[in-house]
Amino acid sequence: MTSIKISPSILSADFSKLGSEIKSLEKAEADLIHIDVMDGHFVPNITIGPEVISKLRKYTSLPFDVHLMISPVHEFITNFAEAGADIITIHPEATDDLVASIKKIKSLNKKAGVSLNPETSIDKVLPVLKMIDLVLIMSVNPGFGGQKFIKETLEKVKSLRKQIDEQGLKTQIEIDGGINFENAKIAKMAGVDILVSGTTIFKENNGDLKKNIQLLRKG
Ligand code: DX5
Ligand code: ZN
Repeated sequence: MTSIKISPSILSADFSKLGSEIKSLEKAEADLIHIDVMDGHFVPNITIGPEVISKLRKYTSLPFDVHLMISPVHEFITNFAEAGADIITIHPEATDDLVASIKKIKSLNKKAGVSLNPETSIDKVLPVLKMIDLVLIMSVNPGFGGQKFIKETLEKVKSLRKQIDEQGLKTQIEIDGGINFENAKIAKMAGVDILVSGTTIFKENNGDLKKNIQLLRKG
């Protein structure tokens, strides 16, 4: 089994110096950069949009793992692709036609992800599993960093792992929300390929990014 990938969420970074924060994450051996886009409508918080992401692009060659918590999402997909996203993840509730939105992401030569809120069943993603590159399991209700991990969401990870393996797919499973050094291990055992973490990476051990990334990776 390949080692788990770490996608630090810049939601916990200092927004006044995102460029240097991203550089520091690359130095600290992050695998991806998780960028949370929130619109104050789909979720009760507002972050950044494509303009800022395009300005951040020059600070790293790491893939941008862009998590769109915006609705309706469809018309904005091109903007995020052009801004430099490598993975574009959308929520099924944010589009009228999930298949069309996935096809749009793929037509722009980007990896497509579908994210499931804690209360959303995996039945939403099973019909499109073959079309996508990633399933993002939300282990908190989206909107804010620093929330408590909802451990019941691991059951969805296990069921998905089974489906993906049985069907011989390469779809990756990412988990997002409340990940810490303790639950990183059980998430990995449940079949997660990528861990997102904001608070743990930026705040534990006095913000020692490299140490925190290593500890999460070790599980
Ligand atoms: C929540 C975001 C997460 C969040 C994770 O809506 O999708 O990516 O930043 O932060 P922590 O690790 O603090 O739960
Ligand atoms: Zn996220």
